[in-house]
Amino acid sequence: MKDAERLIVALDLPDPGSARKLVERLGASVNFYKIGLQLAYGRGGLSFADELAAQGKRIFLDLKLHDIGNTVKRASAQLARRGVEFLTIHAYPQTMAAAKEGTAGTGLKLLAVTALTSYSDADLAEAGFRLGAHDLVLHRAAQAKALGIDGLIASAQEIADIRRAVGSEMILVAPGIRPEGGERGDQKRVATPAAAIEAGADYLVVGRPIIEAPDPRAAAEAIQLEIATARG
Ligand code: C5P
Repeated sequence: MKDAERLIVALDLPDPGSARKLVERLGASVNFYKIGLQLAYGRGGLSFADELAAQGKRIFLDLKLHDIGNTVKRASAQLARRGVEFLTIHAYPQTMAAAKEGTAGTGLKLLAVTALTSYSDADLAEAGFRLGAHDLVLHRAAQAKALGIDGLIASAQEIADIRRAVGSEMILVAPGIRPEGGERGDQKRVATPAAAIEAGADYLVVGRPIIEAPDPRAAAEAIQLEIATARG
């Protein structure tokens, strides 16, 4: 795989029209896109994922599935037919096992969300969890590995610990990436592209630093260069 494909651009935009314009501006420089809840739930959102896949772009559907096993199994089987490559699910054992069953024998890779990064230890306690964020993430990472889940989403600051715990096989994808001196927005635990790669991330998800840049293509290419340099 080319280092440039380790950059996944988050298409956090309201509709396919604006997403299409951005994809055109990024041109051949970016080949991997993440479509999340905002775009997917809008009119034409999932068809736009199909459109990009038909153009040969790699697609990550960040739909964070979680329901009873039977529903997750059927939903993930449906998504596997769309020709996308990554799908997120919440890291509950039943959900992971069901998605694994639903996607068996397909090319769709499952990425588990261990704990949402907006949850602090206090938020998890309020929601009834016994473990704090760090322990919960490692507990669920081990369960995901045991269930044969392909990869995990993790904040760049947790990547090194997770990589040590799960080994080299699992795909680790890090959001919350900010080039040196960039605006943080609402992200609290950020890392530079180089730091995330050095910690063991395989892919970086980047939204606002690219999609809100005056020159998105130049911003994407600068991050790709930083990734390639960090990988040596
Ligand atoms: O704009 P920004 O680079 O912060 O976008 C990061 C993307 O990664 C968003 O689409 C966000 O939903 C997603 N994400 C995240 N933190 C997680 C999981 C996903 O920021 N823990």
